[in-house]
Amino acid sequence: MDGIDTLKARYLAAVAGAADEAGLEEVRVAALGKKGEISALMAGLGKMDPEARKAAGASLNALKDEIDAALRARKVALADAALDERLKTEWLDVTLPGRPRPRGTVHPVSQVMEELTAIFPDMGFSVAEGPQVESDWYNFDALNIPPEHPARQEHDTFFMHRAPGDNRPPHVLRTHTSPVQIRAMMERGAPIRVIAPGRVYRMDMDQTHTPMFHQVEGLAIDRDISMANLKWCLEEFCRAFFEVDKVELRFRASHFPFTEPSAEVDIRYSNTGGQLKIGEGDKWMEILGSGMVHPKVLQAAGVDPTQWQGFAFGMGIDRIAMLKYGIPDLRAFFEADLRWLRHYGFSALDVPDLAGGLSA
Ligand code: PHE
Repeated sequence: MDGIDTLKARYLAAVAGAADEAGLEEVRVAALGKKGEISALMAGLGKMDPEARKAAGASLNALKDEIDAALRARKVALADAALDERLKTEWLDVTLPGRPRPRGTVHPVSQVMEELTAIFPDMGFSVAEGPQVESDWYNFDALNIPPEHPARQEHDTFFMHRAPGDNRPPHVLRTHTSPVQIRAMMERGAPIRVIAPGRVYRMDMDQTHTPMFHQVEGLAIDRDISMANLKWCLEEFCRAFFEVDKVELRFRASHFPFTEPSAEVDIRYSNTGGQLKIGEGDKWMEILGSGMVHPKVLQAAGVDPTQWQGFAFGMGIDRIAMLKYGIPDLRAFFEADLRWLRHYGFSALDVPDLAGGLSA
């Protein structure tokens, strides 16, 4: 048997030389395992006489403790080293800029609706609502569009399906927000000032038309409201909405069954290299229909036309959103790659010439 000192030197060297936990375990088993060298020596103590046993036992125990302590210390050192190694590779530079993540934004149409409902209330208008599935009475009759009136065809109406034998009045997807005029007047009477933003539907699809689009209806009824008030109100709105001092609106005589006189309104803009600008240039975009509310419409809504009068308008929200945010194609709102939303901040995109395509 090697002397205790030799054993000690050998095992401590083995412990120091172990490269990893597995190596350490091998040393432990060889020395202190059940069949280990030191364990075997301990087992041999029984055959010794008491004196020798005492001396050998003490030094064997001391050796066992020493090897055990060395094993533990080496284990901790190896773990520390492994952690250091890992930390070196997993080092994180917290000063690096974060990875950009694609972010959503409010849809321009929603944004514009919010803007509308902030601007008009400053002029005394409150917000009214009506259903998108509307009876043909509200959508047409009450607005002085009787059955067989050509305007019904012009509206390219979506009719709701009716089962045979269903005698409820026909319903349509509202073709404009004007039925909300009727609902608002029936509910609140006169005087009244409301706007009604919302979705409307027509069977139409090209670069500047989609089957679903958005309008905002305006209605102002009082004792002596005139076209002059309408003009001021619209100009005021455009200045606030487009955030420009100068806007130029063009009133073109037109016809709607529910207004008399009627006018369509265009706004002047320029398009320089895709950059749209309001209030200058030689292009006009139609943005709304308007007029003085027809006496028959007041009557249908229970408002006395000998006492009350006023204006109404229906503005294309998608149109003014296109103008403000430089969106070239209405269909982009619904089905195209919406990455242009990034431009929402708000340099206009490379916009093809809008002239010609954009009258209603
Ligand atoms: N309802 C009309 C349209 O959709 C617009 C309009 C509203 C015209 C109110 C006059 C008055 O085309």
